[in-house]
Amino acid sequence: MNPFECIDAGTEFCPCYLAEVGECTVCTLLQGKEVCACNWSKVCIYQRYLRNGSKAVKRKQTVLCDIADSQRIEDGIYLKKIAVSRAMARSLNHPGSYVFVRGLTERSFFDAPMAIVASDIMEGTVTLAFHVTGPKTRLLERSPLRLFLRGPYWNGLQGNRAVESVRDARCLVVTGGMSQASVPLVIKRLLAHGNKVTLLVNTPGPFFISGYLPDDVIVRKGPLHGSQGQATMEQLPDKESIAFAFSAGSTPQHDLVTAFLERHCPGAGLAVSNNHTFCCGEGICGSCMVTMGDKSVRSCKVQFDPKQVAEEGAVCP
Ligand code: FES
Repeated sequence: MNPFECIDAGTEFCPCYLAEVGECTVCTLLQGKEVCACNWSKVCIYQRYLRNGSKAVKRKQTVLCDIADSQRIEDGIYLKKIAVSRAMARSLNHPGSYVFVRGLTERSFFDAPMAIVASDIMEGTVTLAFHVTGPKTRLLERSPLRLFLRGPYWNGLQGNRAVESVRDARCLVVTGGMSQASVPLVIKRLLAHGNKVTLLVNTPGPFFISGYLPDDVIVRKGPLHGSQGQATMEQLPDKESIAFAFSAGSTPQHDLVTAFLERHCPGAGLAVSNNHTFCCGEGICGSCMVTMGDKSVRSCKVQFDPKQVAEEGAVCP
């Protein structure tokens, strides 16, 4: 049985290019095997592929978008509100949503993945944040009026199932640095499901999502790096009652949160920001490959339980 779930399975973008080359993440028949041994219980991907003339369905489009608003948070950090179609804004209103954007150039290798901070369906806008650190983000900084946007994509976090399933419980969100961009959509979903949310923010560092958080989120701040991280987390009240945690930050921060859950609430669900290097977002280039046991998976396409990642590393496809 294939244990992995594809984030695009069952959407309007499935089956994708991977089906055409015998690399579908879910369907064993499309992988060239002789038996159906998938764990997919919705519309059969193989049948959809055959009905579509044995080729991939709709692909994700690149569109030229106006920048409706731009805010410089501090040196080199920007929040940009982008005008998109309402359909695109609706598609990007889920935890883990992200897009590829680039400044005004035809060269698609300037595409950079950016988490969606907020989505306004009625207004037809999405907001994203970036820090100018290299040529891709420098070009974005120099394109103040319009940019190219490709999407929608959804695998910006691992542990989607845990986010969606927790109800009427105490939840902890831990974040720091630019990864906080993915936090508001997760908190929005947790609150919609009747949960109570405590947000722990790393200090020192920027905190640019405060304007995107509802008033009923309890915000605490403290250092999360190095030896101070554990002490900061131990100061949290009612640790044993936490039913779910989301870590949006560095991999050492994920380890800190995982160890905290093991100590105080081992049954709690966990989701983490997907920190692997994304280049194409389509499962093609291999830059995001992760080794899990004897399997290599493309983390831009595949969902897995972050607690089960025992070993990882980039490998060539
Ligand atoms: S980003 Fe290209 S395969 Fe995942």
